[in-house]
Amino acid sequence: MRRPMVVANWKMYTRASDAYVLATTIRNQVAAIDGVEVVICPPSVWLSEVSDIVKKDGKVNVGAQNIFYEEEGPYTGEISPIMIRDIAKYVLVGHSERRFHFGESDIDVNEKVIAALKHGLSPIICVGEKSKSAPIGEAVEQLTEALRHIPKKNYQNCVVAYEPVWAIGGVEAAPVERVVRAIARLREDIGRDSPILYGGSINNKDVGEFAKSPHIDGVLVGSASLRAGVFIEICKIWAEAKTFK
Ligand code: PGA
Repeated sequence: MRRPMVVANWKMYTRASDAYVLATTIRNQVAAIDGVEVVICPPSVWLSEVSDIVKKDGKVNVGAQNIFYEEEGPYTGEISPIMIRDIAKYVLVGHSERRFHFGESDIDVNEKVIAALKHGLSPIICVGEKSKSAPIGEAVEQLTEALRHIPKKNYQNCVVAYEPVWAIGGVEAAPVERVVRAIARLREDIGRDSPILYGGSINNKDVGEFAKSPHIDGVLVGSASLRAGVFIEICKIWAEAKTFK
């Protein structure tokens, strides 16, 4: 179902005590916010603990930052969808940092989307063109590849995150008009039932501009999600600007 969402991607940040404080603060403050689904994607070592913390209230969901597509086997260092399906609802798939640093291909991304759906996890499929001058078509192709072999009826269990690679990193978000154009194009492929988020240097100052657009269902927040106050403000702004469709 299409719905307003704010997703925190903690990347490879937080020590145990930071994760505890951040998750607890977010849970406590999100309790007073209605109209937006909040998701925390912590590093995998904190998944269980963050899941236990947020479960107490039930308003915040948890996502993994990555999975492997096999269920089990001699894959040292990898995490299977079976291991996380009872503690996480979502999983980020195809984040540009995984594509860049770990050589994830479109084929890997597709296998991970298939594995996530098979085990009842909702993949948050990240797509985005690499440079400012690159055509939006790059992101569209990534989505086409990610959805290969997936029956259309399962699209409703997917979330798409449009994250232009050049806008990631907490410097400057992409212009809203460009984001809206890209999302409108991605919408043609994913259909009307899946949320489409924007990600790339979102903070509490500029998020309001994005929230005004009816085309953008949510945001995927990296660096700004590590500061509880800033992240909560983003959630509030998003909730106030949106109503459930
Ligand atoms: P950023 O990261 O908000 O720090 O740009 C977003 C992301 O990589 O998901």
